[in-house]
This record gives sequence, structure tokens and C-alpha cells, in this order.
Amino acid sequence: MSLFSVADHRFMARALKLARQGLYTTDPNPRVGCVIVRYDRSAEGQVVGEGYHLRAGEPHAEVHALAAAGEQALGATAYVTLEPCSHTGRTGPCAVALANAGVGRVVVAMGDPNPQVSGRGIEHLRAAGIEVHVGLLEQDARALNPGFVLRMQSRRPFVRLKMAMSLDGRTAMGSGESQWITGPQARTQVQRLRARSSAILSGVESMIMDDARLTLRPEQLALPQAEEIVLRQPLRVILDSRLRLPLAAACLREPGRTLIITTEQHSPDKRQRLEAAGAEIQVLPSDAGGRVELADMLRWLADNEQVNELLVETGATLAGALLDAQLVDELQLFVAPTLLGGDARPLFELPGITRMADQKRLVIKEFRQVGQDWQIIATPRGD
Ligand SMILES: NC(=O)c1ccc[n+]([C@@H]2O[C@H](COP(=O)([O-])OP(=O)(O)OC[C@H]3O[C@@H](n4cnc5c(N)ncnc54)[C@H](OP(=O)(O)O)[C@@H]3O)[C@@H](O)[C@H]2O)c1
Repeated sequence: MSLFSVADHRFMARALKLARQGLYTTDPNPRVGCVIVRYDRSAEGQVVGEGYHLRAGEPHAEVHALAAAGEQALGATAYVTLEPCSHTGRTGPCAVALANAGVGRVVVAMGDPNPQVSGRGIEHLRAAGIEVHVGLLEQDARALNPGFVLRMQSRRPFVRLKMAMSLDGRTAMGSGESQWITGPQARTQVQRLRARSSAILSGVESMIMDDARLTLRPEQLALPQAEEIVLRQPLRVILDSRLRLPLAAACLREPGRTLIITTEQHSPDKRQRLEAAGAEIQVLPSDAGGRVELADMLRWLADNEQVNELLVETGATLAGALLDAQLVDELQLFVAPTLLGGDARPLFELPGITRMADQKRLVIKEFRQVGQDWQIIATPRGD
């Protein structure tokens, strides 16, 4: 028999829905929701307080929910989508707050993915005599914070690779021209992918060709809270082994930070000029071909920039290199009903594939129409 009742499922689903309200704003913190329910007034349970984490530096979900519940939290059940913290952050440990409020039972969707603190919040609650159950709707809770979970557990971001392509799988003309393949609705979806990401990554070749701004724009986001969301522009990261980015690049004049990751081969003079133009420069190790080493770069972004979700928007070269190195967690392919022909650029440069046995198989997770285009969400099969 399941440890969890129908009501438990319902309230945890509600807590997850609340957590999703922080989708675009909690970064680098996780999205977390909390619902406090009393069962002594009605067998189905009555919500007496709820809340979600809105922004890093502001109160956690449990603090909002407890404030709303007040004395009614006594003997209640708290549903939390992530293990309550046990460390004293800016708002004090949530496990202590729940215990002090006198809740009788805590249901947690998933443990804290940080191995340094995992289990401590739960231990604290149990030591205070509170009944604690963990694992209700755990898959959904993990899916809400894929980047935070991966950063804590594996010290790298969740890598989401977005590409726009024609129906014949082409991403740019032979000349490099590529704007625009997809329509405005698909671009709104891309804006929302940017908005949930800590950072956007591109290769220097795309930046030279497209002069992309890589920013969030409220009018394209088309969300009620758009003006507030764009206050946090995702970090723009450009891989540029020899510092070829033009000093006049549009992204350098946009709000938010532009970080160029380069190698020892860069010219110090160009570095100074790019810094004067507003770029930040980070030198990282190079691979055998003299380009930025990708796995090191991802670890660096996780450790130093707290990058949870990384949206890659680039051309076939860097996209292929990431896929080949098995560093892509999710593909977001926007397919337009157009044909660019055999001379146009492919989706991925994958020079290692010469036989059918080498083909890279994917698993399609979702497929939906977006205006005149199609959005395919897929994951590499990993075999
Ligand atoms: N349809 C779409 O979704 C889409 C999106 C973006 C761009 N595009 C189009 O794509 C074209 C550019 O694509 P591209 O394939 O030429 O270049 P790209 O993938 O945008 O950039 C590749 C460059 O990134 C740098 N890089 C640094 N470290 C790397 C590494 N480890 N592996 C791979 N690259 C690394 C390299 O330059 P250095 O060696 O100098 O560092 C490399 O030449 C443009 O025409 C653009 O319009 C299409």
C-alpha cells in the first residue's frame, strides 16, 4: 500500500504548481513550493497557508506558507517540494521554522541534491518528533529543477541545446545567413527558454555571423510578469578561443553581462580592447584542437557562475562538438515548414559518423505545433 493518500498527491501537486511560479526568477536558487494543510476540520484537508520561493535573497517557500498559516500550522501537515534547508541562510533554517511552528507531519517530494547537506533538514524534523515522508512526486520535483539538481550532484549545468531548422534539417545558408527560419511564436518559446536559463552559450562563429544580442525582451516573452523577468538577463557566454569577437558586437552594448571564454592563445591586446568594450574574459584550458575544452568549461560555469540551466544557441560546429562529447541533456528543435537545400548548413557537424552503426539516436519526449512551426523536445539516447 502506498505511503501517500490521494489528498497527499493533490496537495503535493499544488505545491509543485506553486513552485513553478518561480520558474523565471529564483535563479540560482531552486524553484520550491509549500502548502500547509489541516486535516482536523475536514477529512479532505483544508489549506491554511501556501507559498513559493520567488527570488534568491528573499524568503523560502516554507517561510511564506508558515506566515500565511500563523497559529493554524500547529499539528498541520506541510507539503514541500524540496527538503527544507537546515542551514542558516538569509531567512534562517526552514526545518527549524517548521518545527517551531509545531507542524505534525512533513511530506517532502525530494531530498536536497547537495550531498553536503542532504538529509540534514529531514533529520532535524525527525529529531523534533515530526513524522516525515520523502519521495512523493519526486520525478516531477526533479524535473522542475534539472539544472540545480545536476549542479549540486555533478558540478555541471543542465545543457539544453536549441536549434531552428528547416524541414530538410538545415540551420543556415552556405553563406552563413540564417535569420529567420522560424516564425514569431517559435521565437517566443525561445525567449521563455532563455528566461528560465542561468546563461546562454554561443560559439564565436555564430556571434560574428548573426551579431545576436542574446537578451530577454519583454515584448517577445509575452508573459504577464515580463518586465520583472527581464530585470535578470541571463549571463551571455561566448566560446572564442582566439578572441575573434568584433569590438562592435551588439551583445556588448546590452544590459547584463557578456563573458568570453578563451584559451591561452588569445591576444592580450585584443583582450584589453574587449574588456574596455564591456566584456569579461576568462581563460580556460584548451582541447587537443586548441579550442575551449567543453567539459572543463561546463564545470567552471557551474562552480564559478552558479549556472543551473545553460541554453546553447549556436551553429552546427559547437552544437556537434557538445553532442559528440555527450554533454547535451536536452534538444529543443524548432522545425519550420521550409526547405533550404543541400548547400545549406547542417544541424550538427559530426565528422565522427561514417557508418550507420555510429548514428546518434534520440528519444523524442514532446512534439507540438508552435504557430506554423513544430517544436520537438528530445534527449540523446546515450548508447
Ligand atoms: N539555426 C539555428 O538555430 C542557428 C543558431 C545559431 C547560429 N546559426 C548559424 O550557424 C552558423 C555558425 O555556425 P558554425 O558552425 O560556423 O559556428 P558556431 O558553432 O556558432 O561556433 C563555432 C566556433 O566556436 C568556437 N569554439 C570554441 N571552443 C569550441 C569547441 N570546443 N568546439 C567547437 N567550437 C568551439 C570555435 O571558434 P574558435 O576556434 O575561434 O574558438 C568555433 O569555430 C551561422 O551561419 C549562424 O547563422 C544557426
